[in-house]
Amino acid sequence: MLDSNTIRARFLDFFRERGHAIIPSASLIPENDPSVLFNTAGMQPLVPYLLGEPHPQGTRLADSQKCVRTVDIDEIGDNTHATFFEMLGNWSLGDYFKDEMIGWSFEFLTSKEKGLALDPKRLYVTVFGGNADAPRDDEARALWQKYFEAEGINPDGHIFYMTTTPAGKEPNWWSPGDNGPCGPDSEMFYNVSEKDLGDMTLAEFMAADDRQDIVEIWNDVFMEYEKKDGKVIGKLAKQNVDTGSGLERVLMVVQGKNNIFDTDVFVPIMEYTRTITDDERSARIIADHMRTAVFLIADGVRPGSADQGYVLRRLIRRAVLRAKGKKLARLAIAQIVDIIAAKYAGVYENITEQHDKIINIIDDEAIKFEHSVEQGLKKFERLAPQGAISGKEAFDLYQSYGFPAEITLELAGERGIKVDMEGYAKELAAHQTKSREGSEQKFKGGLADHGEMSVKYHTATHLLHKALHIVLGETALQKGSNITAERLRFDFAHPAKMTPEEIKRVEDIVNDIIKKDLPVTYEDLPKEEAEARGARGLFGDKYGDIVRVYEIGKGDERFSIEFCGGPHVEHTGVLGHFKITKEEASSSGIRRIKAILE
Ligand code: ALA
Repeated sequence: MLDSNTIRARFLDFFRERGHAIIPSASLIPENDPSVLFNTAGMQPLVPYLLGEPHPQGTRLADSQKCVRTVDIDEIGDNTHATFFEMLGNWSLGDYFKDEMIGWSFEFLTSKEKGLALDPKRLYVTVFGGNADAPRDDEARALWQKYFEAEGINPDGHIFYMTTTPAGKEPNWWSPGDNGPCGPDSEMFYNVSEKDLGDMTLAEFMAADDRQDIVEIWNDVFMEYEKKDGKVIGKLAKQNVDTGSGLERVLMVVQGKNNIFDTDVFVPIMEYTRTITDDERSARIIADHMRTAVFLIADGVRPGSADQGYVLRRLIRRAVLRAKGKKLARLAIAQIVDIIAAKYAGVYENITEQHDKIINIIDDEAIKFEHSVEQGLKKFERLAPQGAISGKEAFDLYQSYGFPAEITLELAGERGIKVDMEGYAKELAAHQTKSREGSEQKFKGGLADHGEMSVKYHTATHLLHKALHIVLGETALQKGSNITAERLRFDFAHPAKMTPEEIKRVEDIVNDIIKKDLPVTYEDLPKEEAEARGARGLFGDKYGDIVRVYEIGKGDERFSIEFCGGPHVEHTGVLGHFKITKEEASSSGIRRIKAILE
């Protein structure tokens, strides 16, 4: 059986022998293209060269490019979708065109020694049927015809002009977006069903595609046009070729499987994820998402609240949720990262190089999320028997437990429960207005609006206050506090600028307490008793004789106790990562810290 390493090597060797320079995969993060979060096709890093800039390695290039596509994230778990995949591709930058390319495509697909050894009788191709931008591609049709006929195959039953495809998708025309190089394409499909589908009509071909009896495995784009703002504006100076072949799909076809998870890039990961969950779809989702997370981290992405970082966070969170009962514990994460590093050793070395770092980052993020999820899943299970989840309940799951609405929907969908998404959207909009108003407010003494982030910052303020006492001494008393949904600000008495070491120690202490996930609880006590327990902080007569004290950690584990009206989070694990962004003078003898949770 041809495995992934052999196929990748065969593809590159095939094109090396035909004068191509083999270039390394670019990072998943596009370098000079803010219009996309990730490289989603092999050609993306090559756009400038397809538009005419000379490439330092010449006019014939080939590679295996790492790609991430998340538009199909809801399809993950079916037979053919993956969020990370490798795209085998070759390019002509104004060099060869249709003649050579279609010949090589047929040869590589069918050659037993140098290619994929596929059966030409199971091969079907589509060609561009023509539209207002460009004529029907009779040249491509004639070339394919020659190769099919040489094998004794009726070309009419295997080659189809495409003029209609599913809504919103242009038939056999490829461009990276609304702008850039583009052109008609010719797509290659393989019959993966048990039957010999023989000669087909166009209608039969489309039906076979719907049934996934045939799978698209390669696309030759004849890039000689340019698009601006979604419109074809004319021809490029040169005729280029851009091809792309999804390695995972090729594996499926070559290895005779009906899904990508049974191919060699996934089998070892799946064997492990099946020990985490009995649900096959969940095992697939964990395998897919972990693989993508590993590749993203190796390319420098870190979990965060925006852009690439947010995609990574979602992938890790979705994997954590799929692991359900059995936590995605450090051991499991380490095992999966080991398997992936071994699979891609010698191909994408940065995974092996950053092996430990990758485990730490995934583990940190998973732990943070697991704490809130445990609560969230319990809550979901309590709501499920109702048979429907209201907008307010869905919003509460999101706000209090970090459950993205899509995950509530997914879990509900699996049980045939309805979620009032309209109601959810209304709650969300109302909340956003509230927290905007909240963040515009000025307030004293640390009490803010009760939005989710402000509440978190409020608890973080208590942690910061105590950490400052530990690092700078008890004299570092609170002098003021201001919280918005975006950050906390804290003023305290201290005669000198804090050193970078002191700042780091304070951050480490706070993050350590967050990691420990201590409970946050309150009691209403007579003032004297609260003072006797060591409660500190700003207070005045406004609290009356009975005062409220908030404790972070209980008993021996108690980290802080402060007079405070609340509200606070219920346990510190939900706070995320604490970071001091500024330390400066506020007034004489008073320092000011700004800090964020990320
Ligand atoms: N750029 C083309 C694709 O991604 C080859 O299908």
